[in-house]
Amino acid sequence: MLASRSYEDSRGFFYLPLYVESCWGGMMAILEEDKSQIIDTHAHLDDEKFHEDREDVVTRAKETGLKYIINVGCDLSSSRKVMALAEEFSMVYAAIGIHPHDAQGVNEGVFRELKELSKHNKVVAFGEIGLDYHYDFSPRELQREVFLSQLDLGKELDLPVIIHDREAHGDITEVLKSKCYRGIRGVLHCFSGSYEMAKECMNLGYYISFAGPITFTNSRRLQEVASKVPLDFILAETDSPYLTPEPYRGKRNEPMNVRLVVEKIAEIKGLPYQAVAEKTLENAKTLFGLS
Ligand code: NI
Repeated sequence: MLASRSYEDSRGFFYLPLYVESCWGGMMAILEEDKSQIIDTHAHLDDEKFHEDREDVVTRAKETGLKYIINVGCDLSSSRKVMALAEEFSMVYAAIGIHPHDAQGVNEGVFRELKELSKHNKVVAFGEIGLDYHYDFSPRELQREVFLSQLDLGKELDLPVIIHDREAHGDITEVLKSKCYRGIRGVLHCFSGSYEMAKECMNLGYYISFAGPITFTNSRRLQEVASKVPLDFILAETDSPYLTPEPYRGKRNEPMNVRLVVEKIAEIKGLPYQAVAEKTLENAKTLFGLS
């Protein structure tokens, strides 16, 4: 008995390192896969919902495999804040601009300051700019005026634009198609239009970005659009702290959750996670000129 037990023990002891090694190898493979680098192309880290734990949020993003976060401004004051955050965190880059909600009160002085801010080497885009006919917080005519001025600025400064379109599909498409705005590069953020609209925008060279809503159970139409948009034109984003993807819907969103958006796109397209992670990162690097 003793001999037999000692034989079992020694065998167990002998095999244990091999067993641990093979488990560790498997775990490392999973971790390697999990560590595919990704990018959140649209977050609002300056939002007050991050005041308590902003540094932890960025650390978690890094640990989840994010290489970059594009932090997007909404007005002059948040544009200044996104600049400060881009200076504080090496993985965070900045987009500056005036959201259609904040079109009221914008004057030449605001554009002058945005132009000044854009000289910073971590500013990679103008945004978010566009039209919002859902909330109509600013009169539509004013929204259009501010949108067009910023498209002009984007063109003048040769910066890509991040476009916000809420229930303004027709007007957005019309503006982007107009002759004077040809040649501008950019992305339709948190895309909510039809595939026909996506096609028109892609023909103009725009990328289509998907956010948390693509994971919602009632978003079959959006998922169908994503299934048709070629991976070459897709970006992924969170729009943190808003639009939290499933299964965390209802909680505060944060950049690490972009992984769930990438996973959903991979599932819809029947592609490996890694392929979508790599391509969406490559697309974003091309658009925003990240090295
Ligand atoms: Ni946003």
